[in-house]
Amino acid sequence: MTNVAILGFGVVGGGVADLLTKNEAEVTKLGKDGINIKYILDLRDFPSSPFCNKVVHDFGVIVNDPAVDTVIEVMGGSHPAYEYTVAALSAGKNVITSNKEVVANFGDEFLALAEKNGVCYRFEAAVGGGIPVLSPIIHCVRQNRITEVRGILNGTTNYILTKMFTFGESFEAALKDAQDKGFAERNPDADILGTDASRKIAILTALVTGKLVPTDKIHTEGITGVRHEDVVASEKIGRKIKLLGRCITDGESLYVTVAPFLLSSDMPLSTVSGVYNAVEVIGEPVKNVMFYGPGAGAGPTASAVVGDLMEIMRSSDNSVVPTIKKCDGISDFSEFKSSSYIAMTGVCPACVKAAFGEVQYIDAEGECAFITPVMTEGEQLEKIEALKAKGGVIKSRIRLI
Ligand code: HSE
Repeated sequence: MTNVAILGFGVVGGGVADLLTKNEAEVTKLGKDGINIKYILDLRDFPSSPFCNKVVHDFGVIVNDPAVDTVIEVMGGSHPAYEYTVAALSAGKNVITSNKEVVANFGDEFLALAEKNGVCYRFEAAVGGGIPVLSPIIHCVRQNRITEVRGILNGTTNYILTKMFTFGESFEAALKDAQDKGFAERNPDADILGTDASRKIAILTALVTGKLVPTDKIHTEGITGVRHEDVVASEKIGRKIKLLGRCITDGESLYVTVAPFLLSSDMPLSTVSGVYNAVEVIGEPVKNVMFYGPGAGAGPTASAVVGDLMEIMRSSDNSVVPTIKKCDGISDFSEFKSSSYIAMTGVCPACVKAAFGEVQYIDAEGECAFITPVMTEGEQLEKIEALKAKGGVIKSRIRLI
């Protein structure tokens, strides 16, 4: 019998307990052993839950019980998740998590500690919810020369952008709808400012490059600046606006960013709607591989957590996870090259041409909207500053991909 302890009995913790109970036959067969939820750690009591007799309030009970093989940390946040993970790994227990914040901040440390103690640290559920993406990258794709990993990594923002496109809603109305439906938190900042996606692209970057980039070094833009006018303009040029996490590398340079991008309609990522997530890996010789599915929610996230548990029970070989080291030496984003959609007021086509050269104009009411040639961020910002000095006001800038 494998004994597990679940840290946190919220949406994900409840989903894990439910899955282990309702799919007991499947998990026992796959794991080649029965699974016993020995403890559930939470500050609260759950008197009406079928798991009420498992609830403890003291982590010491779990870490000091030699019968506990695996700790499932689904609390979220960095602390005390960090301290509990270190204690559990040091005590010789496997740790599985869905907590992208703690993986993005300390994943290198946890993997080294797990290796030292001969146990496993797994985090499939931290990126893409129910989509099996990290394990397939590790096991099936890493032999390629990977040049880019990009994805729609946040369901809440994808839902908001989908509503803005499909129903012409404003950002504010779409956000309110997402909150009413329970997708977005009451405080939606981590989603709409791109923080959540930056943690996920940091984890993906670490897996394909071995470099764990601090999230504050990732050029991050959220979707709060995306306007109804931008949606209209994007439709005119046959593109869709999506919040993407991107890691682009040629072996020497490494750009990591989260920002809204204008995707052409022949890109598979442009078709991903609603709360769904997708991750596209591009490498040689495999070309483009895409992983798609539900990026959040109790059932999908529990599926990924329990998938990690099955892998650990079948084989506790930790060596397949790549060595990851902290690295803040990524390429200067001002050198990143793209073409951008820009909307401005107070500028005339002649001034735009003088600054940017030949551009593609988009018919926009009351604004001068155009697509720049490909140039670096630094060059684009310099030219925008020159236009602002002549009375131009920037309304929007979204990069094309
Ligand atoms: N807030 C996240 C999202 C939850 O909307 O994708 C899953 O990480």
